[in-house]
Amino acid sequence: MASPGFVSSVSVSSVLRAGAAARTAQLSSSFALSSAAGRPTARSAAAAAAAARRAHVPPPPLRMTSTTTPAAESATASPVVDLRGKKALVTGIANNRSIAWGVAQQLSAAGADVGVAYLPLSDKVTTKVKSLTEELSPSLFVPCDVTKPEDMTALADAIKAEWGGVDVVIHCLAFANREDLAGDFSATSAGGFQTALNISAFSLVEMCGTLKPLLNDGASVVTLSYLGATKVVPNYNVMGVAKAALEASVRYLAAELGPQGVRVNAISAGPIRTLASSAIAGFVGMLRNIENVAPLRRTVTQKEVGTTAAFLASSASSAITGQVLFVDCGYEIMGAPPKVED
Ligand SMILES: NC(=O)c1ccc[n+]([C@@H]2O[C@H](COP(=O)([O-])OP(=O)(O)OC[C@H]3O[C@@H](n4cnc5c(N)ncnc54)[C@H](O)[C@@H]3O)[C@@H](O)[C@H]2O)c1
Repeated sequence: MASPGFVSSVSVSSVLRAGAAARTAQLSSSFALSSAAGRPTARSAAAAAAAARRAHVPPPPLRMTSTTTPAAESATASPVVDLRGKKALVTGIANNRSIAWGVAQQLSAAGADVGVAYLPLSDKVTTKVKSLTEELSPSLFVPCDVTKPEDMTALADAIKAEWGGVDVVIHCLAFANREDLAGDFSATSAGGFQTALNISAFSLVEMCGTLKPLLNDGASVVTLSYLGATKVVPNYNVMGVAKAALEASVRYLAAELGPQGVRVNAISAGPIRTLASSAIAGFVGMLRNIENVAPLRRTVTQKEVGTTAAFLASSASSAITGQVLFVDCGYEIMGAPPKVED
């Protein structure tokens, strides 16, 4: 699959602010590297948080802020997301454009101890994912092809052995054959249908079932969906059906796991250029359409999905479960294109 360029338009920043002087001192070297304007980047914040964990210094909680000045932020911002002490499993990191990578960075920046489960397509892929995620110092790095039940069992065994239990599970993976992401939906083959549904939807059910005994009280499971689950998006075809199954699974899982104190939610992200999305015919046109139609007149960023996932992973969202949260610059609310001059 091709992996074209990346559309980046950051208007929401998550900023780590050292609270205590001692913490500030220990984190300052990382922050100093971060930006000339003195505003830490997500990368430096994540690295600082990972460094602090290694030194057994709890990082300050993640703050989600608007685009106000640093001075205004200090007067108004309050901690929203704090994942210190949480074990967070992230699936679906393939490269630095993966939505899962944006999520992992934000979880780490909020203080979570991140574990990575990746698809071991080849040694090259494994090395790439390993070197990408190194800055987060993952305490778990486990191969897992969700089509192999033995991989899922091995993942559970690794979590049990390393962590004892898990607080956050990020299910951020999907797959459909390229030929099923173009043309007539009715031409979808039985095999293509099963593949898409199995990898993109059933894997969440199986993951929750396998990890159920290991999900700590207050645990949060977050998966990634898309508008094509409920509305027709040209060429999304079988993935739309898979996402519909995924979203229904979120509700059934939330109902099942709620009594054990576990929440399950989906983020319905607006389109972002990634390896997976590059397989969808006409994807670039879809991005342009968002920029013209979405109330915010832009596409969502990987980082914005990450900060939302960190929020859903945290106790800041403790009464939210079984939901599909749109993170799409408002595109989903539009029933018709915005008014244009005649
Ligand atoms: N990019 C978008 O526009 C967009 C929008 C909404 C939702 N999403 C969803 O976000 C999630 C992540 O996709 P992405 O866009 O970051 O692309 P991506 O290609 O970076 O990630 C997809 C991931 O799925 C993994 N995967 C595929 N088959 C697997 C298997 N058998 N076992 C384990 N892992 C497997 C891949 O290794 C990869 O890491 C997907 O669920 C996707 O549908 C993407």
